[in-house]
Amino acid sequence: LTSTLDKYLGGNRDKSLAEKIERMFKVKLSNVQLQAVNLIENTNDNIIVSAPTGSGKTLIAYSALLHSGKGFYLAPLISLMMEKYNEMTRIFSDHTIMVSNRDYRIPAPKFLSADFKIMSPYKFLVLFNEIDPSQHGNVIVVDEIHKMSKDPLFEASIVLAKRKGFRIIGLSATITEDDLQKLSQWLNAKVVRSDNRPVELQYHYIKMKPLTYTITPEENYTFNKKPILSFGDTIFDREQAAAIVASKIYLYSNKPVIVWSPTRRNVERIAKMIAEELPEKPEFLSVSSILPASNPSEKLLKFTASRGVFIHHGGLSANARAIVEREYRKHGGIIVTAYTLSHGVNIPGTYLIFSTIYDENKQVISPSLFHQIAGRAGRPGFDDKGVIITILVGDSEESYYFNVLLKSNASEITPLLLDSPYSAVKMLLPVVSKGGMSAAINVLKDSFSYLKNPDDEAVKETISLLEDVIKYYDIIGGKEAQVSMDMGLLPIEYEIIQTALSKEYHEALSEIIQKASSIYGIEPSAVANDILKYGYLATWMGKAEAREVANTIQTILETGVFYASRVFGWDSVERKHMSKIAKMFTYAGNPLVEPLAKTVRIDTLRRMIKAAPQIVEGASDFEDAYNSTIVAVKEAFYMRKTIKPKAVKKIATLVWYAMTGSETPPSDLIIDVLKEVRRR
Ligand SMILES: Nc1ncnc2c1ncn2[C@@H]1O[C@H](COP(=O)(O)OP(=O)(O)OP(=O)(O)O)[C@@H](O)[C@H]1O
Ligand SMILES: [Mg+2]
Repeated sequence: LTSTLDKYLGGNRDKSLAEKIERMFKVKLSNVQLQAVNLIENTNDNIIVSAPTGSGKTLIAYSALLHSGKGFYLAPLISLMMEKYNEMTRIFSDHTIMVSNRDYRIPAPKFLSADFKIMSPYKFLVLFNEIDPSQHGNVIVVDEIHKMSKDPLFEASIVLAKRKGFRIIGLSATITEDDLQKLSQWLNAKVVRSDNRPVELQYHYIKMKPLTYTITPEENYTFNKKPILSFGDTIFDREQAAAIVASKIYLYSNKPVIVWSPTRRNVERIAKMIAEELPEKPEFLSVSSILPASNPSEKLLKFTASRGVFIHHGGLSANARAIVEREYRKHGGIIVTAYTLSHGVNIPGTYLIFSTIYDENKQVISPSLFHQIAGRAGRPGFDDKGVIITILVGDSEESYYFNVLLKSNASEITPLLLDSPYSAVKMLLPVVSKGGMSAAINVLKDSFSYLKNPDDEAVKETISLLEDVIKYYDIIGGKEAQVSMDMGLLPIEYEIIQTALSKEYHEALSEIIQKASSIYGIEPSAVANDILKYGYLATWMGKAEAREVANTIQTILETGVFYASRVFGWDSVERKHMSKIAKMFTYAGNPLVEPLAKTVRIDTLRRMIKAAPQIVEGASDFEDAYNSTIVAVKEAFYMRKTIKPKAVKKIATLVWYAMTGSETPPSDLIIDVLKEVRRR
């Protein structure tokens, strides 16, 4: 048996896995890593790794994947999947790596033939009956496993992975003692744990009086004995407090500072306020000059970056985010972020400031989230300590901070599957499709939800809903029903797919919006305008509700393509029609964009539009069109290894057409685009 690692190392066959990993990654494994890697090599056990943020759990995941040579990586967040995809593509030159989620569509057989498959829980359920561990790799890494508390489909995919005999490697930074023991019982897993952070953390707070936002005498965070804010200072609001603290600390220390705020809007406000406090600097001016500026967030970023202040959130293009990550790592500065960096995406700083302890829904954040974000402070190898400063307003926040947030560093996992009958049914459909009804109850009782709270009433209710859904499919019958159950499609998803299959785009879309809104109990009229105008782009340009519904429609249409190929065949008119509808949804059915959509891959198109919404909206003037074309084409070639001038030229021409309606771009533009695309 030859480990695929030998490909990278040649001639080191007799070495242990741990030694091979150390050589390949040029690191000395920590205790936790060593324990886990030895278990990976010498046993077939499932493993739960519970170790603080930044302690190197990713390397354990990679060891498991490399050791098996093939396998799956399951993560609850798109940003995390993309980070791992980019990293693995860079490191594992001898392996094929593919992603499958709402944003990336690859035909199932091709996807499953990749060595390392990165996927969302939803896709895992859809593909479940196609997955064969003996053929596709029997290891599945489950990152951020505590996120079962947020997403019942995440729990569902772990239940199914377990039943399929996968070797599960679960990773988390925040699990309570009790949950650790229960998880290990549930998955029959060995536990590897450590509470040691590589870098010590210090927790400070700054307290303000409510309403007046005056600094109270209880605590002044002092830097080299100088108070950062003084007693009696009056400040506009907590965001401004965070901005002042961040700019002062950065000026005094010249160390990297992270500021956390839960919403994009406040992230941008804070970044702007900080930037206004800081001078321009030559190294940052040159960073600013390479940043795109095709939407309002990116325009703001271009300004703030010139002063060393970075914004990082989902509203930026992948290209802009990559530049931010790279330049912040290189030059330091201040990075203001919502969630993208807090969930296992690896960008540390010496200081971390919580502008608030509330999330975007105005709920207090859990200890687990607090510590996960706090864990970004203190850079291993650079800092001897990390400092967390939390802005608090009023006594009740202070009390929550001390009595809850600082008391425990984990929150109990509250799995949702048994409280989410539709998700549970989605999980069970592929099971009954293969194994009949009798397996369903066993599978439900095999959930983490049931282990933590054996609620037989909930099991009964779910089974009765399952029976209704099966009756629904009995009436439909035939291959349609078989495939739908196989893929775990709920009736509402099936209906949306049928609508898409049987109608032309515009007619279908209104009906689809109605159905998809009903999943969330949202009035269709609240989201219809945004979605009709922008299609999938509403996930980025629309109101919060529209984002959610557009996301869901996108996921279902993507799934519909797979459905149609399975029911009618890859070359069928049905599959082609479904593909067309799904594709049209991504560019809002705009005829000017169509030629571009026919040329680039669907995920590329999506990234381009996100980077330059002018593709769909039309450019405001010549200059706007000129600059936005450069940005969009750069984004298109962002992940390509080779760049063919002919392809660049063609795509630039199509982008220009989408933005202006003119078929011939100015010749300088093509030259500039080529120059920019090469300059990466
Ligand atoms: N043995 C090691 N020696 C030095 N650096 C290491 C070692 N193992 C990992 N690292 C580095 O530590 C950093 C953090 O690792 P990683 O992202 O895996 O953290 P994590 O445990 O997954 O944290 P989180 O809970 O936030 O996801 C990475 O930059 C990685 O390269
Ligand atoms: Mg991680």
